[in-house]
Amino acid sequence: MTENKKSIHGEWSSRFAFILAATGSAVGLGNIWKFPYIAGEYGGGAFVIVYLLCVAAIGLPIMIAEIMMGRRGRQSPINTMETLTAEAGADKKWSWLGWLGVIAGFLILSYYSVIAGWALDYVVKAFFGSFSSGDSAEINALFDDLIASPMTLVFWHTVFMAATMYVVQRGVSGGLEKAVRFLMPTLFVILVLLVGYAMTTDSFDKGLSFLFAPDFSRIDGNAVLTAMGHAFFTLSLGMGAIMVYGSYLPKNISIAKTSFFIAGADTLVALMAGIAIFPIVFANGLEPGTGPGLIFQTLPIAFGNMFGGWFFGIMFFVLLVFAALSSSISLIEPAVAWLVENRNISRMQACIWAGLATWGLGLTVAFSFNIWSDFKIVDKSIFDLLDYITANLMLPIGGFCIAVFAGWMMKPEHVLEELELPEQHVAIWSFLVKYIAPASVFIVFLHVIGII
Ligand code: TRP
Repeated sequence: MTENKKSIHGEWSSRFAFILAATGSAVGLGNIWKFPYIAGEYGGGAFVIVYLLCVAAIGLPIMIAEIMMGRRGRQSPINTMETLTAEAGADKKWSWLGWLGVIAGFLILSYYSVIAGWALDYVVKAFFGSFSSGDSAEINALFDDLIASPMTLVFWHTVFMAATMYVVQRGVSGGLEKAVRFLMPTLFVILVLLVGYAMTTDSFDKGLSFLFAPDFSRIDGNAVLTAMGHAFFTLSLGMGAIMVYGSYLPKNISIAKTSFFIAGADTLVALMAGIAIFPIVFANGLEPGTGPGLIFQTLPIAFGNMFGGWFFGIMFFVLLVFAALSSSISLIEPAVAWLVENRNISRMQACIWAGLATWGLGLTVAFSFNIWSDFKIVDKSIFDLLDYITANLMLPIGGFCIAVFAGWMMKPEHVLEELELPEQHVAIWSFLVKYIAPASVFIVFLHVIGII
């Protein structure tokens, strides 16, 4: 690969632009919606510790590997994997990894968009003052009514998918980059405010100790699998999203430093969301383990009671939608980039096809909360099943393969050329991607299927 090989889809204008886009991809519903509710379901502290360990020991090294592979291949994940496989002289089957990613992104986006639709609906609710009573029973009812209404869910899912495809259609620097520039900092400020509100409740200590005091008796194989899967999910790893963003990365940028920043910012946002939410849960006598509705049933209570809550409520849900949007674009970008490269169609057409397919699958997710809620496969609704297959299985498997490929298949001199790190640092990274990351994923899988 030559020094100045560039992606045909364009390139980020600067390191800052890449950081924003990759952080935008990482920070999303995973941090604010999913992390608190799964931490709640699995009993808090111990789960949080396992999750943090997974981010540091598995997520971070794999993120470095994935960005590195993307930058070297400079194409959609499928074609990048083909190029890298040829360059490394590895078995052709490795290029299937790109396919796994494209499919995982499509499956994730189909439900991600439905949940982002909930946030859109809550923007409108916030605007019309629906949270003003601050009463937890009333606020609970708002959520129950929303998910019971198939047409409302479909409507917002359609709006969100259309917005996603619009941004993706505008291309790398025109669409993706502009969309994330101002959102991240503002979201952070509102989270600080919410943490401030949580401090004023008399359950702040209780919330904190739920989140950080480990009780390992609450942890079983499934909890560990979920924590590990979430580390992949929240960092956008294992399916080529970060790989495709890496392929738009100019040559002279430090991959390792950038990865530390992204993982750090992502973790901080998730922990802040948890710190804001659990005190509200306990102060109102709610259950931490109520599932996917958790933030929608708790944060409006804060907005109903706090000074300026009307304004902050609107802002919060608007920002949540934007955080979701900057993630959703990265879920579909690998598929779009591949369609443009291989099907010889315009970016616009690629967006229409990929968008329509995702939208269609999303309908079944929207219905799984109401009219199809009795339809279960292996005891899971369509939403639960898609979430389980992608976050708990496909992403860790994808991440495992990325680690093995970067650690064992790629030529060390190529890796060194991309990473440009001091030798000891490369040695640490190598050890993590060669042994620790793949072995951890493998052991967790063996445990879950009951072999150990
Ligand atoms: N990381 C995002 C979140 O936490 C979701 C996401 C975007 C994602 N791109 C991804 C998850 C790629 C897995 C793979 O909300």
